[in-house]
Amino acid sequence: MIVLDKVKPLPGPKNFFGLKNIRALGQKGILDAMHDFWKEYGDLFEVQVGPKKIVVAIHPEHVRHITMTNSKNYEKLESYDPVRKYIIGNGIVTSIGDLWKRQRRMMAPFYTPKGVQDYSDIMLRDTIDVAARWERLAKEAPDVEMFDEMAMITASIILKAVFSTESEDDILQIKEAVETMVSYSGTIQASVLKVPDWFPTKRNQTYWKARQITHDYINGILDERLAMDEADYPDDLLSKLITLEDPETGERMSRELLLDEALTNFFAGYETSARTMSYAWYALSTFPEVKAKLHEELDSVLGDEPPTLDTLKKLPYTLRVIKETLRLYSPAPAYAKDVVDDDVIDGYRIEKGTMVMLFPYLTHRHPDFWEDPLRFDPDRHSPEATKARHSQAYHPFGAGARICIGNHFSLLETHIILAILGKQFDPQLPADYKANFVMQGMLHITNGLPMKIVKR
Ligand code: HEM
Repeated sequence: MIVLDKVKPLPGPKNFFGLKNIRALGQKGILDAMHDFWKEYGDLFEVQVGPKKIVVAIHPEHVRHITMTNSKNYEKLESYDPVRKYIIGNGIVTSIGDLWKRQRRMMAPFYTPKGVQDYSDIMLRDTIDVAARWERLAKEAPDVEMFDEMAMITASIILKAVFSTESEDDILQIKEAVETMVSYSGTIQASVLKVPDWFPTKRNQTYWKARQITHDYINGILDERLAMDEADYPDDLLSKLITLEDPETGERMSRELLLDEALTNFFAGYETSARTMSYAWYALSTFPEVKAKLHEELDSVLGDEPPTLDTLKKLPYTLRVIKETLRLYSPAPAYAKDVVDDDVIDGYRIEKGTMVMLFPYLTHRHPDFWEDPLRFDPDRHSPEATKARHSQAYHPFGAGARICIGNHFSLLETHIILAILGKQFDPQLPADYKANFVMQGMLHITNGLPMKIVKR
């Protein structure tokens, strides 16, 4: 048992009901405000925001404690209720306890470095289609919004991987419907005054419509699939999930859980990868010496051929560009856990019921672990440099048992996209452009990412 009066209270900005903190977060934005608190109060601090206390943990040792050493004390409880209720139910991102353990154990083999290779053909095919479209674009109207371009590729890849969806109209419709659901859940999470979700406001109605579209789509595919002979099932993730059996009970997933898990894959797996790719293009356009090294590698290894799984192994620098993008522009800049019971970290009191925010975006700028942290340098991810560093100094995918299950999928996908498109094109930013990064759930750029598609 922990004797709480023997430990120190956490430092942090103390003010009545956190009103000054709310103002700072609103005016500077979450990233800059948290950065300033970090510089003032150190690697572990507490910020009161209205009735809520948030503990912010930045040091890699704290990340290790929360996600690994004492992970049973840091769960996904009420902080995840809006995502649970309004998006993915009990899918693996939000489930806890025995359900999570069973689902993670059963589904893990699909997401290993070898398992995700089943989807490499889809990744290659979709990227080659985009390269053909960019070829035309480069000649006609080369200006694009890069995030939209990348979101269409990653949405298309994940929908094909999960449901074998081929229709572009379906891809667009589901992508938009899920975006509406995600944005609604985010607003509910952030709002102090909550209008009941059944009240017929425009926002509520838009949400329920989007949810209906998404569920109708998935249920339609499930009906079709379950009416088929299993021998005729298409080779996609949904078929794998349907036929998966619990090794202990021999039971298959309920229909409700199948819907939640299938939707979870789309929800968790397309925007994150799209943001990674978009910010990689931003970084390449901003750091010309990195782009030159990337081009050198792609030109010497690929020639005129698209990559194969074998040639990808010969493109380590290309993968390091992706990893460095995940460091400096972490698409998930923070992730949360709820404190189950009182705990002590580094002599500081962590109270039951508080929310802990882990902040890869800030850990990745920690000067004790990253020299000249704002420099974009892919070689930080060479095997030697990685081995020499604290392993939780880099946690764009989280850490411990709940580390992102899709991390190999995402790295394979972005490696392929950057190799194919980077070989043929050199997207460029307007001369006077400066990105304004903010945290809105994920890492966003408020002024968009307008780029010109230029053929190399
Ligand atoms: C660059 C892309 C991605 C980033 C930065 C990312 C980041 C994360 C983070 C930070 C977590 C939370 C860890 C925690 O709560 O402790 C997570 C969990 C998860 N991610 Fe990803 N993710 C990415 C891509 C994907 C993809 C492509 C998929 C699916 C194909 C996916 C599926 C999941 C799932 C299912 C979880 C929950 C795992 C669990 O709780 O057991 N993610 N991801």
